[in-house]
Amino acid sequence: MCGIIGIVSVQGGFKEPIGKVVRRCLERLEYRGYDSVGIAVIKDYGIEVRKGKGKIAEVSVRLGFDNVDGTTAIGHTRWATHGKPSDENAHPHTDCTGTIAVVHNGIISNFLELKEELIRRGHVFRSETDTEVVAHLIEEYVKMGYKPFDAVKAMLSRIQGTYALVIMISTEPHRLYFARNTSPLIVGLGSNANFVASDIPAFLEFTNMVIALRDGEYGYIEPGYVYIEKDGRPVKIEERVRAISWTPDMASKEGYPHFMLKEIHEQPYAISQTLAGLTDRALDDAVKLLMDSRRIFILGAGTSYHAGLVGDYLLTELGFDVHPFISSEYRKFMNMAGQGDVALAISQSGETIDTLIAVRALRSRGVKVVAVSNVIDSAIPRESDYVIYTRAGPEIGVAATKTFTTQLTVLLALALKLGVAVGRLSSSEYSNAMDELNRVPKILDSVIAGVEGRVKALSEVMSKKQSAYYLGRGIGVPLSMEGALKMKEIAYVHAEAYPAGESKHGPIALVEEGYPVVFSILDDENVDALLGNVMEMRARDAYTIGLVPSKYVSKFRDLLNVTMEMPTLNYRVAPIVYVVPMQLLAYYTAVNRGYDPDKPRNLAKTVTVE
Ligand code: F6R
Repeated sequence: MCGIIGIVSVQGGFKEPIGKVVRRCLERLEYRGYDSVGIAVIKDYGIEVRKGKGKIAEVSVRLGFDNVDGTTAIGHTRWATHGKPSDENAHPHTDCTGTIAVVHNGIISNFLELKEELIRRGHVFRSETDTEVVAHLIEEYVKMGYKPFDAVKAMLSRIQGTYALVIMISTEPHRLYFARNTSPLIVGLGSNANFVASDIPAFLEFTNMVIALRDGEYGYIEPGYVYIEKDGRPVKIEERVRAISWTPDMASKEGYPHFMLKEIHEQPYAISQTLAGLTDRALDDAVKLLMDSRRIFILGAGTSYHAGLVGDYLLTELGFDVHPFISSEYRKFMNMAGQGDVALAISQSGETIDTLIAVRALRSRGVKVVAVSNVIDSAIPRESDYVIYTRAGPEIGVAATKTFTTQLTVLLALALKLGVAVGRLSSSEYSNAMDELNRVPKILDSVIAGVEGRVKALSEVMSKKQSAYYLGRGIGVPLSMEGALKMKEIAYVHAEAYPAGESKHGPIALVEEGYPVVFSILDDENVDALLGNVMEMRARDAYTIGLVPSKYVSKFRDLLNVTMEMPTLNYRVAPIVYVVPMQLLAYYTAVNRGYDPDKPRNLAKTVTVE
C-alpha cells in the first residue's frame, strides 16, 4: 500500500535527470498502489513538487518528471487510505513554508487531533491526508529552534500508527530523513547514490546492497553515508548490510507484455531455485519443532492462506492437529494457543500487517512461529522463531503466481520430511513424491507450452461471462480457491470456489445454460465423486471445464465442454502444476476484457494497513 522512494546522489551521480530516475524507481513500486503519484526535488530555490492523480505513465508525462534535475529527490505512488485519489491528496506533502516535503506509507492514527492542534497554531492544510501532519509538525519544531534531525525526532515522538516515512528538508539539501514503524522500508547502498525505498526492486538497477530497517528505527541517508538510530542510540550498520541475489532483469518485463505473464512463465525456474535452497538445514529445525508440537496453526492472507490450506491438508493427513486460519481472524484462537503449539506463518512479502499482528499475538502466548516468506529480513521472518525462504525472486505483478507455487513447494517438502520423521510415510513413499517434486520444473515447462494456446482460446469464452464456479475435492478445494481468486481479482469475473460436494447445498441454484464451472480433478480417491458432480452440472447445461489427469481423460472427456489434459501426478504434487492453467486463464481473460492484470483496481500487492 503506497510505494515510497528517496534518493541522495553526488553531483553527476546519474547519467540522466534525477526526476527520470525517480520515475523508473516508482514504476517498480507501482504494484503497491497506483491511484496517484508525485515527486519532490531539492532545487537552489527550494523544493519543487510535481504530483497528480493517475498512473505513473500518464502523470509523469503530463507533469514532465523526466526533466527535473537535481541530486536529492523523493517519490511516491499511492493507494488511497485517508482522502480520495486526487491531485491534492497525492504525495509528497509539504509544510506551510514549502521547505519540508514528506512521503509516507501507512496510517497516522492520531492525525485528527494533531491536525486540530496544528490548525489552532495557524497551519494551513491543503489535503485530506493523515500524512500532511508530519510536514507541519516538523515545521512547528523547526520554528521552535530545533535542528532538523531533532525536529524529525520530536515529530516521531508525537505520531502514532504505522509508517514508513521519507522526509526532505531544503535547508539540508544533501540529506533525506527516514523512519519506520511497521510499514516496510529498505536502505540501498550505491556507489554514487544512496536510496531508501519500500521495496528492493525500486533501486535494484543501481545496487543490491541493502539494509532492511526495523521497527522503531530512524535516521538519514547522504551520498556515501547512512546513519540509523533507535531509542536515541546509534545502530551498528556494518553487520546489517546484505547483498541480495536478485538481478535487475528479475525486476523488468524482459519482453513480456505484463509482469504477471512473465512471472507465470518463471515458475519452473522459481521452483527449481526454491528446491535448491531447501537443504536439510533449512527444513530440520521446522521438522523438529512440528514433530514435537501439540497443535499446529497455519496462517496467511489471500493466496498465502490458500497455500496454507494445502499445507493444512498435507499435515492433517499425517495425523497432526492442524488449525488453519486467515491471519486477520487470529483472535478466535488466542484462548487456546499456548506453549507447545507451533504456527506456520505464510507471507510472500513478509510484511502483510494482518499476518504480522497475528504472529506477534501467537508469540506472546508462547507459540513458536516458523515463517515461510520470499523476502529476506522482512518483518515476519524477523519476528518469527524460524524461517524457511521461498526463492521466487521479486514478484511485481499484484496477483501472486510464482510465490504461490514456491510456497506449495516448501510446504510439500516440509510435509514429506515430517511424514518420514513421524513414521507416517515410508521411505519409498517419500522418495517417490520427492522425485516427482524435483521433476516439477520440467513438467511445468511442458505443461505451460502445451496449454497456453488452449487457455488463450478458452479465455475468449470466459471473458464474456459474469461469474463462475471453481469446484474440487480434497486438496483440490484450496487449489480451486486460488484459481477463483485469480479470476476475480484480475479479470473481475465473480468466481467462487466450493468443495464440489457442497455445490448441491446451495450454489447450484445459480447454474443455468452456459454457466462456467471449472473442475480440478486430481489422481486421488475423489475421482468418481467428482465425475458425479460434473454430470450434475452438465445436466443443467453448465459450461464445464476440467483439469483432468491424463489417466482419467477418457472418463471425463464426453462430459466436459473443455478438457484440459494434465499429467497424472501424485495428488500432493499436482496442485503446484494444476494451478498454472488457472493463472493463465485469469491472465488472458483479464487481457481480453481490456484490463491491466499487473494493476487490478483497488488492490495493492502488500497490504500494510489492518
Ligand atoms: C493474491 C494476492 C494477495 C496476497 C495477500 C498476502 O493474488 O497477491 O491475496 O496473497 O495479500 O500477501 P503476502 O503473501 O505478501 O502476505
